[in-house]
Amino acid sequence: MAVIDDGRAYGHRRGSFDAELAEVDAGTPAGEMLRRYWHPVARSTDATSLPRDIRVLGEDLVLYRSLTGTPGLMLPRCCHRGTSLFYGKVEDDGIRCPYHGWLFAADGVCLDQPCEPDRGRNRESYRQPWYPVVEYHGLIFAYLGPGEKQPVFPRYDIFEGLDTDTEEIVIIDHFAFGGPSDAPCNWFQTHENAMDPYHVFILHNAISGPQFDPKLEIWPSIDWQRNDLGVTATQDRDLPDGMTLHRVTEVRHPTVRVIPTPTLTVLGKTNNMSWALPIDATTTRVYAMVRKPKDRPPQGLPVYANDKSWFDLTDEEHQIYPGDYEAQVGQGPITLHSEERLSSTDRGVSMVRRQFKEQVQRVADGLDPIGVHFDEAQALQSVVAGNYIVGPDTDIESVPLSETLRSA
Ligand code: FES
Ligand SMILES: [Fe+2]
Repeated sequence: MAVIDDGRAYGHRRGSFDAELAEVDAGTPAGEMLRRYWHPVARSTDATSLPRDIRVLGEDLVLYRSLTGTPGLMLPRCCHRGTSLFYGKVEDDGIRCPYHGWLFAADGVCLDQPCEPDRGRNRESYRQPWYPVVEYHGLIFAYLGPGEKQPVFPRYDIFEGLDTDTEEIVIIDHFAFGGPSDAPCNWFQTHENAMDPYHVFILHNAISGPQFDPKLEIWPSIDWQRNDLGVTATQDRDLPDGMTLHRVTEVRHPTVRVIPTPTLTVLGKTNNMSWALPIDATTTRVYAMVRKPKDRPPQGLPVYANDKSWFDLTDEEHQIYPGDYEAQVGQGPITLHSEERLSSTDRGVSMVRRQFKEQVQRVADGLDPIGVHFDEAQALQSVVAGNYIVGPDTDIESVPLSETLRSA
């Protein structure tokens, strides 16, 4: 009997994911590459005198803040006999294990062993496994990689020179259009979405109703560019007054997205940056840092039918008004790359994936990946993403100019 192949689902194979994009654990090629960067692991307010369990890149850790204000991040399992520092007592100089009282500083050095002769004659040779942290505008960043490869902590021009009388920086930890802080899906499928501008016209406008400024409903010309920090998407729209709206979105390797505001309330460089935090291979949190005037509310969530935000929608309404959360979680815990059918409008997604995998290979080859610097003079990075209104005589190629983005 002839086999009928008419595309029906019978015998459909399950498919597989691309481990070089999806894995995050130590010892995996992608996990080792990710460990060469600083990642936001918690809000500053999460670090208190009550230790907190956190999970980062598949590692269970304990976060605390000493009574003199120093945050510490370490493995929970005490290096003495293994009880959890989650139950530790935070003191001026660090955290004291509840079992036999060994006291550890933020760099893991043992400062006290109360049961040992002379409170531990050799105590400084014991070390609790620890990770370095940096606080930046309300987030705690950690570096989970090898000490000899620790890069300088990057800062960004859009968050510099804050006038603390009139401005503030707020941290948001849910998807831009709403969703719980921890999404049950692989981080990369949330990340590559930033280089998928076409979904805006379908998911965010046609399906869910307008969620963007009306000017952004004008169909643009879209292009992508690869540079030595990541990939940018540029969109140019001809406005009715003869001007052009030049909109630039950035993905910065490995986990950063810099998105222009959807409401055009901010022209020029954007006011926000977000990081995907791979909690583990199937759990993702997105931290957004937003600079805003103190007297204005942060950009609100889109309003759906019946004046509801994402958090107020019923299950049925989530089906009717899907957003980024539904689309990205809907791809599954880890999307099945082998079953995809990438098309012409996925070029930006392909560029991000290719560049990412090249960095995985560079690290496997003993080289440094892009975007890491070891000289403090290179710590300050310039952002390009934003909404730019330019006149008919402006050379769009020259807007915006940035010394940090060079074609590669
Ligand atoms: S198990 Fe931590 S001090 Fe003994
Ligand atoms: Fe989106």
